[in-house]
Amino acid sequence: MDDIQLIRYWRNLDHVRRRMVMTDYIERNGHRKWFDSLNDDLVRYFIFSLDSKDIGCVNMTKINFIDKTFEGGVFCGDASYLNHWVNIWACVKLYNFAFFDLKLEKSFATILKDNKPALSLNKSLGYKFIEDVEQNIGRFVLTRAEYVSASEKIQRYLRDFAKQSM
Ligand SMILES: CC(C)(COP(=O)(O)OP(=O)(O)OC[C@H]1O[C@@H](n2cnc3c(N)ncnc32)[C@H](O)[C@@H]1OP(=O)(O)O)[C@@H](O)C(=O)NCCC(=O)NCCS
Repeated sequence: MDDIQLIRYWRNLDHVRRRMVMTDYIERNGHRKWFDSLNDDLVRYFIFSLDSKDIGCVNMTKINFIDKTFEGGVFCGDASYLNHWVNIWACVKLYNFAFFDLKLEKSFATILKDNKPALSLNKSLGYKFIEDVEQNIGRFVLTRAEYVSASEKIQRYLRDFAKQSM
């Protein structure tokens, strides 16, 4: 399976799709068209892996180099890796890339209010609640400064942890 279809496959699995704001089933052909139409300057999709096993996807969308903002996203495709440190590790890699390599300053996330794992993961990265978009959907923001202070311990811990498991 190619990477584009792997992302589609994961995105359509119940444990991912049901937790997303957009819950529509994504069709094979539509997905490739959508992927081909993406502008590399505005979106980045990364597949993260452990021991050469593909596990999930972290992504940045709506990248805006003028406002220095973007939308951050993550999903663990392989359900056997839910509740595994690799998910937060992938997020840390993504936000390090966004804030330090691309020098962006602020990330936004839109999360279903009953999506406890996503809310708690984002909270541990430093995201703060801004407002309700709809009754069951919240909007959150993460500044670079909040990320640096919130993730300091996690980054240290993950570095040690990754070293041990190599
Ligand atoms: C967001 C996500 C990557 C967090 O993963 P994580 O850090 O491994 O999650 P946690 O460690 O907090 O998991 C805690 C518990 O919830 C379970 N869990 C986490 N996500 C779950 C899901 N999508 N479906 C069912 N159970 C899930 C875990 O198995 C674990 O179970 P436990 O209570 O028996 O220990 C993962 O939940 C996911 O991919 N969710 C679907 C996509 C999504 O919601 N993305 C964010 C959209 S804004």
